Amino acid sequence: MRNLIDIMDLSKAEINDMLDLADDITAHKEKYWESCKHMKLATLFFEPSTRTRLSFEAAMIELGGNVIGFSTADSSSAMKGETVEDTCRIVSQYVDIIAMRHPKEGAPVAAATTIEVPLINAGDGGHYHPTQTLTDLLTIRNEMGTMDDLTIGIVGDLKYGRTVHSLIKAMSRYKKIKFILISPKELEIPYYLKKWMNDENLEYIETNSLEEYMSEIDVLYMTRIQQERFFDINEYNRLKNSFILTPEKLIDAKKTMRILHPLPRVNEITREVDKDPRAAYFRQALNGKHIRMALILTLLKWAEEGR
Ligand code: NCD
Repeated sequence: MRNLIDIMDLSKAEINDMLDLADDITAHKEKYWESCKHMKLATLFFEPSTRTRLSFEAAMIELGGNVIGFSTADSSSAMKGETVEDTCRIVSQYVDIIAMRHPKEGAPVAAATTIEVPLINAGDGGHYHPTQTLTDLLTIRNEMGTMDDLTIGIVGDLKYGRTVHSLIKAMSRYKKIKFILISPKELEIPYYLKKWMNDENLEYIETNSLEEYMSEIDVLYMTRIQQERFFDINEYNRLKNSFILTPEKLIDAKKTMRILHPLPRVNEITREVDKDPRAAYFRQALNGKHIRMALILTLLKWAEEGR
């Protein structure tokens, strides 16, 4: 059974096929209106979400399917002490595919061992968020017209930001990619990821200045400081205003640069930046629905083929 837990579960060719399918869905929605008729998706969200959960639900509905699920752990039997494995095992008997978000790193791996339908990791703690990465890849391809030869500036909470971890891994497979990792020292990428980047010989620079490399960047990936993952609220308060993108800070940026953000934003991008045509984050959120439609279709097809 093929699941999507880590973006590296998919080959580069499989990702490209999924991006192509998302483009076709965007262009010819009506072709797919009955693709998942009589099928069900469960969204099991043990941690809050707006975009990810609702885009999954909208995706399944637009494919002609139905959705069941819960949006907080306290409205599930987790409150009574049920394990995540048991919850998923039961739900997998009711539905054809599951999208799950959990505050604990690795929870989807545990859940996947007990179920017989495809499982999608919709974010596990500070670890991974592969469907946001598929959204990011589709946005980069559509906005930049290429996935190769790009300098990607990643800004903010690189320690706890799961979207960052999955994005770095995914982009590492494309040609001539350079990463500029922009964060306060306290929020730099986790050691395991840095070691992996070194082992893979990836090109990267670490800095705590948003402006220093602005003129070189092709994709500026802004992120929120992940308040809920901090152990010490004083530390969060000290770091929360580390980087705030304003129109002035974009003066040296390339005209072709694109600004991405997985959203939600807090204050790291001011509202004035929204008017800049380079701001791609709202288009990115719409891409999220189309790529999730492509993902659901692909995983269901693979399940039917017994893959
Ligand atoms: C991200 C997440 O949940 O990790 N949001 C999302 O899925 N679009 C980013 C975040 O919460 O900051």
